Amino acid sequence: MINFKEEIAKQISKATNISEQELETYVEIPKDKNNGDYAFPCFRLAKELKKAPPVIANEIREKLILDENIIDKVEVVGGYLNFYINKKLLAKEVIKAVNEEFGKSDIGKGKNIVIDYSAPNIAKPFHIGHLRSTVIGAALYNIYKILGYNVIGINHLGDYGTQFGKLIEGYKLWGNEYDIDKDPIGELAKIYIRINELCKQDESVLEQCRYNFKLLEEKDEYCTKIWEKFKDLSLQEFKKVYDLLESKFDSWNGEAFYSDKMPEVIEMLQKTGELKESQGAEVINLEDSGIDTPCIIKKSNGSTTYATRDLAAILYRARTYDFDKALYVVSYEQTLHFKQVFEVAKLLGIDKKYTDGLEHVAFGMVLLPSGRMSTRAGNMIKLEDLLNEAIQRAKEIIEQKNPELEDKDDVAKKVGIGAVIFNDLANSRIKDEIFDWDTALNFQGETGPYIQYTYVRTKSVLQKAGYLPKVEDINVDYLVDEYSQNILKLIYNFEETLVQVTNKEEPSILSRYLIDLSKAFSAFYNENKIILEDKEIQDARVYLCSVVGQVLKTGTELLGMGMPNKM
Ligand code: ARG
Repeated sequence: MINFKEEIAKQISKATNISEQELETYVEIPKDKNNGDYAFPCFRLAKELKKAPPVIANEIREKLILDENIIDKVEVVGGYLNFYINKKLLAKEVIKAVNEEFGKSDIGKGKNIVIDYSAPNIAKPFHIGHLRSTVIGAALYNIYKILGYNVIGINHLGDYGTQFGKLIEGYKLWGNEYDIDKDPIGELAKIYIRINELCKQDESVLEQCRYNFKLLEEKDEYCTKIWEKFKDLSLQEFKKVYDLLESKFDSWNGEAFYSDKMPEVIEMLQKTGELKESQGAEVINLEDSGIDTPCIIKKSNGSTTYATRDLAAILYRARTYDFDKALYVVSYEQTLHFKQVFEVAKLLGIDKKYTDGLEHVAFGMVLLPSGRMSTRAGNMIKLEDLLNEAIQRAKEIIEQKNPELEDKDDVAKKVGIGAVIFNDLANSRIKDEIFDWDTALNFQGETGPYIQYTYVRTKSVLQKAGYLPKVEDINVDYLVDEYSQNILKLIYNFEETLVQVTNKEEPSILSRYLIDLSKAFSAFYNENKIILEDKEIQDARVYLCSVVGQVLKTGTELLGMGMPNKM
């Protein structure tokens, strides 16, 4: 598509002799539509030219030789030049550009992005915080990918640590009393509570547990076998959630994967002289970097830590993936952990490119209105149940609205799961989110189902028309009205929106965009008759519907949601 910012910069450059590249960075999109489609603020030039911005604006205006095929008009308002782009050109460019591949680009070519997300803990419930991580991580994954980056999605499973020494001991003592195969995570949780109790009463049991973990670290056959069983059973449980979400990962290297890679890290840290003994533990003090809490590398009992494993992972990922960015989609509760780890990583002697590329993509909590949703202790809820309930509720709504619908189960799955996913992505990630069924599943609110519903409307228009006109037959004279133009401008900005997501690691920018596009479509649909006598007008409007549908579908799928054709 034509680059309007660039065209405007080109024209101003001719009038000012300032470089096009510089000028292009100044061009902005005004918040208020009454200020044109693009604005050029002259404030930045005021210093250089030693003139007041409105004077500069008028001078440039006089010298501008406008290309009318690109710009309809320019207005000077205060220190701004407001540009109105040629409406027909916009329409032509957009309808020509949109197809199934729309959004694909090579902006990211040659760049590697590692995304660490989901990462539930073995033998513990997959909780709603992990769901957020999974959903945000997957959206980022898809968006980087469509922009042409090479993306590596890693599920850094929590499958290691001293707690496994305890679980192994508990299993050894009472394994036959529990039906672990039936409800692995529930039963292992019970064993874990029971063994912890026993450890409190009996120091020798605690010793044995620590020893078990040591044996595990040394690859003892028996311990490894039990640990693998826990891992397999837990993964089977997690898989139920991943299947519902259709999550995929390129790597399942969890914490245990780094067990043989930590000695190198510890040695490297020792060499820097920064590794200090503190109450029997080995730590790195980070006060000079403004972090009060030291990073523990080795506990007093000699075992390694979550932080040490993350350091080994950074080293491994730098070497294996040569990443430009390594994103960690993890709750804000771990802010301190990542600050420490990223700071200590600077001591590993890796290229600055890598340490600069480390980023904690933090997100807020999911708050649950109390009631039947918190089936487990505290606010732990079984995610599989939550997702299945979403599907069930979606099905009830669909049943009511459209009893005749075919493939109700498939549609209910897309709508129910889509509602949960969109709810997670609707607002800026750092905000705590309230999960409320009625809000998430409202077909009229700013929700996933609303976007899906809008898409279905575009589909039904096409069905009513009974044909899809050819793009070269469209007369863009019929797409210059306000409602069509609002849609076209939004679609023109689709790629820019995706780029913004990657600049801020913020999928909600795309969520907002899809809501805006759905609203713009609703306004168009309400104001413009689409199926009518005049075939030429009908063709233009039907075509625009199909274009909107395509962008809604692509965008929604990038967020990780499915798109029904009917609902
Ligand atoms: N398993 C951890 C948890 O549940 C999250 C791991 C995040 N990734 C990482 N590289 N530390 O809290």
